[in-house]
Amino acid sequence: MNTEIIKVDPNNIDTALIARAADIIKRGGLVAFPTETVYGLGADSFNPKAVADIFKAKGRPMDNPLISHIWEIEQVYTLAREVPQKALELMERFWGGPLTIILKKRPEVPMEVCAGLDTVSIRMPGHSIAHELILQSGTAIAAPSANISGSPSPTCARHCIADLYGRVDMIIDGGSSFIGLESTVVDMTGEVPTVLRPGAVTAEEIAAVTGECVYGGNYSDAPKCPGMKYTHYSPKARVFALENMENAQSLLKKQTGKTAVIALGENKGYGCDVFYSGGEDLKSYAARLFYFLRKADEDGVGFVAAQLPENKGIGAAIRNRLLKSAGGRTDETDYA
Ligand code: TXA
Ligand code: MG
Repeated sequence: MNTEIIKVDPNNIDTALIARAADIIKRGGLVAFPTETVYGLGADSFNPKAVADIFKAKGRPMDNPLISHIWEIEQVYTLAREVPQKALELMERFWGGPLTIILKKRPEVPMEVCAGLDTVSIRMPGHSIAHELILQSGTAIAAPSANISGSPSPTCARHCIADLYGRVDMIIDGGSSFIGLESTVVDMTGEVPTVLRPGAVTAEEIAAVTGECVYGGNYSDAPKCPGMKYTHYSPKARVFALENMENAQSLLKKQTGKTAVIALGENKGYGCDVFYSGGEDLKSYAARLFYFLRKADEDGVGFVAAQLPENKGIGAAIRNRLLKSAGGRTDETDYA
């Protein structure tokens, strides 16, 4: 397949260029596009064949449902058959932004989108290019992250090109995703709002609107969020997720091959070959994490020791992604 790559300035959108992308969506094609969280691989939510093509392009298991992206709150009613008042309040508070809301689906939503579940997940992104693309397409856009299944989610067009060139119709290069981790997924179909995947919007922030909100137990394999049971965010390099960075040096010394450390702040003598700084705060760490996991492979790194940050704010999401890329192990586990 011929993949067209177009460059769009998110601060000064060329609407005619986006019209070409929207045309591809309307005709049942696939377009990778930037959002504030990560890049998405989009198709018309109401075109079952186009949605099936997303799974093929990504090599994604068919039992893993997709998020439908919309441009305005009203559009929720084209996808959901029940919209609780508290869900509406969450939309008002957090959309466009990094929150995905699970609701009961309308029968018109193809089963390919929902992987056979009776629910649909919906998000209104906070990104000018994503907004314009969905608006011009005139439909909801089903979009998982625009990576080959299992690899770290793409935070720039270069990552999409590396994974999907020749497999999709178009890739829109709109610069870097500024949040860098996928949206929070909250299930609003039960008694208590339940976070199935942590992201930039925390359970505490959700509870401030809805009165209560819990994390879905062990969301690493919560059956309600099918995607979380698969291997994820894995570069070719082996990842060690460390609670205590003082253990990095001795751990890396035991490895044969190029080593790297991802950590907040400066290199505190970790004894690694390459050091990737997550910056000074959790926000910059989140924005850089997937970029560094891919960079490690580009740099020929075999072993990465990455700092597990405090479990606060977006730190919970960083920890979740890092533990998955490390196969659930921490430095308390025997790595031998
Ligand atoms: O930030 C994001 O959410 C990005 C951008 C592109 O919007 N998208 C994204 O999609 O991360 P994806 O497909 O990589 O992850 C969606 C997650 C998966 O773990 C999936 O299993 C879960 O959400 N999910 C989707 N629909 C669901 C549903 N109806 N019930 C439960 N979990 C659902
Ligand atoms: Mg994904």
